[in-house]
Amino acid sequence: MDQLGIPRLTHASGIVRLPGSKSISNRMLLLAALAQGTTEIRDLLDSDDTQVMLEALRKVGVGVTALGGNAWRVDGCGGLFPVKDADLFMGNAGTAIRPLTAALALSGGSYRLSGVPRMHERPIGDLVDGLRQIGADLRYAGNDGFPPLSIHPAAVNLGAPIRLRGDVSSQFLTALLMALPLTGQRAVIEMTTELISKPYIEITLNLMARFGVRVERDEWRRFTIAAGQSYRSPGILHVEGDASSASYFLAAGAIGGGPVRVEGIGKDSIQGDVRFADELEKLGATITWGNNWIEAAAPRGKLKAFDLDLNHIPDAAMTLAVAALFADGPCRLRNIASWRVKETDRIAAMATELRKLGATVEEGADYLAVSPAPTFIAAAAIDTYDDHRMAMCFSLAALAGVTVSINDPQCVNKTFPGYFDAFAEVTAPVIAIDGPSASGKGTVAERVAAALGYHYLDSGSLYRLTALAALRGGVALDDESGVAALAAGLPASFAGGRILLAGDDVTDAIRSEEISVGASKVAALPAVRGALLARQRAYRRFPGLVADGRDMGSVVFPAAVAKTFLTASAEIRAERRYKQLIAKGMPANMHALLQDLRERDARDAQRSVAPLQQCVDADRVDTTEMDIEAAVAAVMTVVRRQGL
Ligand code: DC
Repeated sequence: MDQLGIPRLTHASGIVRLPGSKSISNRMLLLAALAQGTTEIRDLLDSDDTQVMLEALRKVGVGVTALGGNAWRVDGCGGLFPVKDADLFMGNAGTAIRPLTAALALSGGSYRLSGVPRMHERPIGDLVDGLRQIGADLRYAGNDGFPPLSIHPAAVNLGAPIRLRGDVSSQFLTALLMALPLTGQRAVIEMTTELISKPYIEITLNLMARFGVRVERDEWRRFTIAAGQSYRSPGILHVEGDASSASYFLAAGAIGGGPVRVEGIGKDSIQGDVRFADELEKLGATITWGNNWIEAAAPRGKLKAFDLDLNHIPDAAMTLAVAALFADGPCRLRNIASWRVKETDRIAAMATELRKLGATVEEGADYLAVSPAPTFIAAAAIDTYDDHRMAMCFSLAALAGVTVSINDPQCVNKTFPGYFDAFAEVTAPVIAIDGPSASGKGTVAERVAAALGYHYLDSGSLYRLTALAALRGGVALDDESGVAALAAGLPASFAGGRILLAGDDVTDAIRSEEISVGASKVAALPAVRGALLARQRAYRRFPGLVADGRDMGSVVFPAAVAKTFLTASAEIRAERRYKQLIAKGMPANMHALLQDLRERDARDAQRSVAPLQQCVDADRVDTTEMDIEAAVAAVMTVVRRQGL
């Protein structure tokens, strides 16, 4: 089995762009498939669960085409699916199998639906009972009440209200609501129990309305769809970022200092799980809302102990179970019975894994009581039960100073394939080494990275590569937007100590004086710096990063755990450069080198954005009188002081 090691972490801060919402993605795909007209869906989630839905729709005759960049075109079939016989494999995607079962049952064909073994343990009986009441023909191919299922053509009659339970999963109601307009008849659904996870029904109603079908809602008891309504494509739609996925990052900000900002959801989100941020606020976190972002920062002390009814945010609530480890007293998560029938029995799984970290946990049929450990154990291997949310939640435990191994980490692909990289981008420790040209930063940074086993970013090489790409592409170095466009799509790669540009080895070419001067010029252009920002931040990976440049500590990684400003007199730097060039057999002139260096220092220090400067929180290391070993030792002293 694969394992992913997350080192002990001390701090979380940064920005995360969220992947598309799973709930919205799969609903939009189905509604677009049933609608008349073509829909373009942008920012669709790219994950196992959406792949399951896309594949099933293809099989029943819906035209789905990837447009690139997570945009998809869906050619709706304007009613019933054209293919009348199909075998459909639904993996473990609840948001795909439930709505499709209902739509297929009303499509007048023969279909067989199955999934992974766990899917065959996840209930679907309430939905099948609801559909049978109107005459649909569904049969269990395995155990009663569970997939696999077969569906057969049948005439349906909606004369009487459908009576439906709502206390096991709200997805059964979602499935019926989305499918019933296919009949063209007036449809009424009456709930026979309390309805759980109501915010998910709000998402369903909201999206149905965008496709032109209105549902009359009488409290949460009775839902009526007037006769003669059908879905029509609204044209282009955007998928919001996933609010459940946001919970891990917001919690990281609340636990690990922060601020951590998630982009892709905000004030006007239609997803119920954005309310997770309110719960986090009750624990003492500082939450700030934007139109398209939410930010979380930690309280001064620990998080406050809590006792909360979390029925309205069943998925994001799991994140609070792990956040409880960081609280100042015993915590209770209530009204979470639906956890038992999700990807795994999440109440049992959560209890078992929290205990591994030293917490005292009591589990009930519909609650979990978590008392944080007085002291954390040093290391733990976490089992994930083929449940993406278990894997994502427990990454947070590393912020308790625990070395965490996540077993079977690729289970996150269900909803968030790049999760651990995104998590590292806000939590992996960064050591920033800034300073002027030829101060020895490159060599020192590389050695410090090797000593710690960290990754290494030579940010100057990106500016050098940009200058080279501009010269080769005939783009003037002062053409800001032209050079920025090159920087944004720089075809650069780093392998085995060599630097490639569009496959060409340019390791030596980017070190020439011409490129040194060019790099300093393009580095003064704000749009170029902006274009390279996300690329530099993506180097922040586990177990950690050493980054050298001019603005590592000030702009790119302001929350770096250790910052040093490495400098030396201009004369000694020019002399070092001279010796380097001569050693490489390249022509060199001491006087010209010194003058160039002074000009570059001035340009780097005087530019309007991210000028070269010593951060207030950086340690100054003057290497004028030092050899490399002494300079490395001086930086390591700063690093060790941070407990790394
Ligand atoms: O570190 P270096 O000499 O390879 O950098 C080349 C140029 O790029 C230099 O003139 C300054 C600029 N640079 C920058 O502006 N910001 C960075 N983080 C790194 C380099």
